[in-house]
Amino acid sequence: MLEKSPAAWTVVEVQADKSWIYALSPPESAELLEAVRSAVRTAGLIDGSILDWRRDDFALRRSLPTLAAVFRQVRDGRAMALVKNLPRDGVTPAEFRLMTWAIGLHFGVARPQNRASDYITEVKNAGFSYRSATGRGYNSSAELDFHVDGSDVVLLSCYNQAPQGGMSMCASAATAYDVVVQERPDYAEALTSDYTFSRNGEESEGEEPWYAAPVCAVRDGRVFCKWNRNRILNAQKLEGVPRLTTLQLEAMEYFDTVLRRPENMFCMNLEPGDLQILCNQTMLHSRTGFVDHPEEDRKRTLYRLWLARPDSRRLPDSWEVFYGTTEPAAVRGGMKGHHYDEARRAFDARQAAAVGMRNIDPETTKAA
Ligand SMILES: [Fe+2]
Repeated sequence: MLEKSPAAWTVVEVQADKSWIYALSPPESAELLEAVRSAVRTAGLIDGSILDWRRDDFALRRSLPTLAAVFRQVRDGRAMALVKNLPRDGVTPAEFRLMTWAIGLHFGVARPQNRASDYITEVKNAGFSYRSATGRGYNSSAELDFHVDGSDVVLLSCYNQAPQGGMSMCASAATAYDVVVQERPDYAEALTSDYTFSRNGEESEGEEPWYAAPVCAVRDGRVFCKWNRNRILNAQKLEGVPRLTTLQLEAMEYFDTVLRRPENMFCMNLEPGDLQILCNQTMLHSRTGFVDHPEEDRKRTLYRLWLARPDSRRLPDSWEVFYGTTEPAAVRGGMKGHHYDEARRAFDARQAAAVGMRNIDPETTKAA
């Protein structure tokens, strides 16, 4: 039996203890917007490459202690945090996106997220199919399965919410794994065996189209989870991938059912001006399908940023294949995709130096 971590929560616990919800004060909120507007005035543009911005372009001071506490909560507390009151009234989507990016520049190294090697993505329905072999959920309106994203933490800032649906759900993998250990130790063991995950066509040069890793792994007394149904089922259609055993299939279905029990699945509606931050080692997330506004400028819009963090923990050995290294405080994770070029390499190296992290990219390490 593992020692109970605050990340192993139940719904009753996170409803009773709201310390993971942070409301920015009016001066903190005003500072964020002014930092963005002042940086844009100085640069003379807002629509250049996002990678050209430096941390020091954004004069954040007053809001930093609150944001630092938020990231501590994600690491050592509930593994999720909600920040309220990001400026939204009168703020353009470009300003809101840049504000999300500016926060990221102060707290880690952003990671590429997709085939296009984007470092920040707009989460908006573009009519894509979630269930196709190369589909992703963030540009569809579909209900999503529980999953983790591919970096130490994920930030999701809400610009517009859907008029109907689009509810956000979180569940603790640590809690669910503990329940499976108690109820079905045979399934718990199966979850720690290798499952094969498809890279959904997002592999970069030198990467295989799939990789093997357990759904659940325990390191230093903590549960690490890599649950993603779509990618496991997509891998089964690829050549050379070992078939899932009946026990593995049953175990993953049981795990998913435990996640969805009312006592384990916490639901929240992200409102405009909300920023959700999740630890992708413990916290699984999902969302309901939604119906959108017909007007383009009112459509559900969120900005998603993946970060490698300076205070990250050592990962289980089995995670090296996806994260590139298990070393803490390293620039790790993300999906380099098909456009990981010089500009992206240079950003990684520069930003790693700015926040005191180790950059593991062999090309830039060689150059340095
Ligand atoms: Fe996600």
